[in-house]
Amino acid sequence: MPDGPPVPVTGSAVAPVAAAEPPLRQLAARHDLDLGTAVNLTALADDDVYREWVATQFDSVTAENEMKWAELEPTRGQHDWDRADELIAFARANRQTVRGHTLVWHNQNPAWLADLPADELGAVLKDHVQTTVRRFRGEIRQWDVVNEAVEEDGSLRDTVWLRALGPGYIADAFRWAHEADPDALLFYNDYDVEDVNAKSDGVYDLVQELTRQDVPIHGVGVQAHCSVERAPRTLRENLGRFADLGLHTALTEVDVRMAMPADPVKLEAQANVYRSLLRACLLTPGCLSFTVWGYMDKYSWVPGWFEGEGAADILDENFAAKPAHRALRDDLSFGGPSRRD
Ligand code: G3I
Repeated sequence: MPDGPPVPVTGSAVAPVAAAEPPLRQLAARHDLDLGTAVNLTALADDDVYREWVATQFDSVTAENEMKWAELEPTRGQHDWDRADELIAFARANRQTVRGHTLVWHNQNPAWLADLPADELGAVLKDHVQTTVRRFRGEIRQWDVVNEAVEEDGSLRDTVWLRALGPGYIADAFRWAHEADPDALLFYNDYDVEDVNAKSDGVYDLVQELTRQDVPIHGVGVQAHCSVERAPRTLRENLGRFADLGLHTALTEVDVRMAMPADPVKLEAQANVYRSLLRACLLTPGCLSFTVWGYMDKYSWVPGWFEGEGAADILDENFAAKPAHRALRDDLSFGGPSRRD
């Protein structure tokens, strides 16, 4: 909890957080749940209040960008680990775990990759996965090994990796990562897979086949970038079917955007979506973590990507708590025995 009085409140629906309230991470511990946030490393360095919230409210952190390949190896063969190391050191100092995001993706890859001939890509990808996972061995609890490899219709996404390496690149990536850090939990991660739908059916078929082949995959990450108009309805059922395969699950990038401007009705609707996402995770054995993709609107990625939308996080631009913060706090306040198998 930040010291001193919370800063201005921007509307009647948002409220300061009482200094006496227990930190969210303390409430989440009652459920054996890691409560996480994506971290903007620039804000972490420059904004004291932001840093204090990350340090005190959350028990897991994810670099919003700094563990992506373009950031780690901007020039071929020359790694820049500094920013990622900063986050690892911060997490260690605050007794937090780290989610690693992400090893194999079609976005935020280094520009030099585009110049390589297709027959070099397999070796280069293996080197990237293993160099990165080894570099952080023992420091990362969950790795997003493969990110967003499935299309909306459930087929494999047409990416540089699928074209050059065929569908086997996914199993290979998990095997390479497991060799490099046998203790890390390895996740497949995607968006628009909150509900039981064509895309999550495709992910289900993919991970079922991987488990059948004894590929070292340990979990499915459901990103949960949601909006107040489009709340998931079958998340509990969907998480349950992955649990039935013997896999962990995690909500990895939660936010709930709305058409701007925000108003009290939209903020209450948003709180309901956050609450239902959290409940689905709490009700699913093996749902290990609930990570928000940023916790305060000032640094959210949403307005830059969705024109006219925003206010997606649990705190407003001034660190005042929205109804969504209260909803998470209230649900986490109900104690209970460990849910983990
Ligand atoms: O690194 C450059 C920097 O040098 C430059 O000064 C700056 C100017 O705009 O741009 C910087 O890169 C930006 C980068 O974020 C770091 O701030 C990119 O333009 C911008 O596109 C990038 O956006 C990120 C996006 O992933 C890229 O795909 C968002 O911050 C990040 O929140 C978002 O996260 C993704 C997850 O990784 C996967 N799931 C979806 C989620 C939301 O899109």
